Amino acid sequence: MKNVENKVIIITGASSGIGEETARTLAQNGAKVVLSARREERLKKLADEIGENAVYLASDVSKAEDMGALVKLAKDSFGKVDAVFANAGVMPGGNMSELKVKDWMSMVNINIVGVLNTMAAVLPEFIAQKSGHIIVTSSIAGTKSVPGNAVYSGTKHFVRAMLDSFRTESVTEHTNIRTTIIYPGAIKTELLNTIAPSETKSMVEEFYKNVGLTPDAIAGAVLYAVSQPDNVDVSDIIVRPTLEP
Ligand SMILES: NC(=O)c1ccc[n+]([C@@H]2O[C@H](COP(=O)([O-])OP(=O)(O)OC[C@H]3O[C@@H](n4cnc5c(N)ncnc54)[C@H](OP(=O)(O)O)[C@@H]3O)[C@@H](O)[C@H]2O)c1
Repeated sequence: MKNVENKVIIITGASSGIGEETARTLAQNGAKVVLSARREERLKKLADEIGENAVYLASDVSKAEDMGALVKLAKDSFGKVDAVFANAGVMPGGNMSELKVKDWMSMVNINIVGVLNTMAAVLPEFIAQKSGHIIVTSSIAGTKSVPGNAVYSGTKHFVRAMLDSFRTESVTEHTNIRTTIIYPGAIKTELLNTIAPSETKSMVEEFYKNVGLTPDAIAGAVLYAVSQPDNVDVSDIIVRPTLEP
């Protein structure tokens, strides 16, 4: 596809769900993909499926050095980085009154620090080449208050505010860096797996089962944003099931 073919795109959270399907879709449209997540076996399987246009690195977004190594892998393998999809995230859920402080910190470390580490690794490349595209997965939970998911919602609001503020800085700095914030609604992935069993979890699972979209709905949105001409910044995309309030 025009403006996708031969682009080198780093994807975090590529071992399952949205990241996995987006990698597949971008590669099918001619991109070279650099896959990141912690589960190496899953990355290897996907890279084998895609073929010569995929490389992977078992890496943790909460570790800055891992994100640096990912950019090095992209440059060593394909010579450049054109775009990054900072998509890795977790959602253990639960009311704040449950005081699951470990889960709060995990969400901050992966959903916020992970995105910042990813950006810190690619920005020197994008600034030097005066082009680039940063795509981040926020959530519908990043657009409103969500009971039962306060910290998660906070991390997704952070991503939204940070990336859109960065966009305005890039405008004044003339770096030609495009930004896209994706806000998915209910998508059938492994995201709910880390929520502790509860009545609320069962209700959410039932909703996802009945109404949730498959990850290709988000992959298509990312493909759309990437494929636009260089002077078109698709800044925000909300994708939710028709039956999601
Ligand atoms: N599914 C939805 O309904 C929905 C809605 C709104 C937003 N989102 C967002 O979409 C993004 C993708 O989630 P998903 O729905 O596709 O769920 P998923 O299937 O659970 O995928 C999450 C991905 O993040 C990776 N990951 C988690 N912690 C990581 C870490 N420390 N370092 C590197 N990678 C890590 C996981 O890989 P490893 O475990 O192998 O590291 C996995 O590849 C997340 O940011 C999520 O918040 C999802």
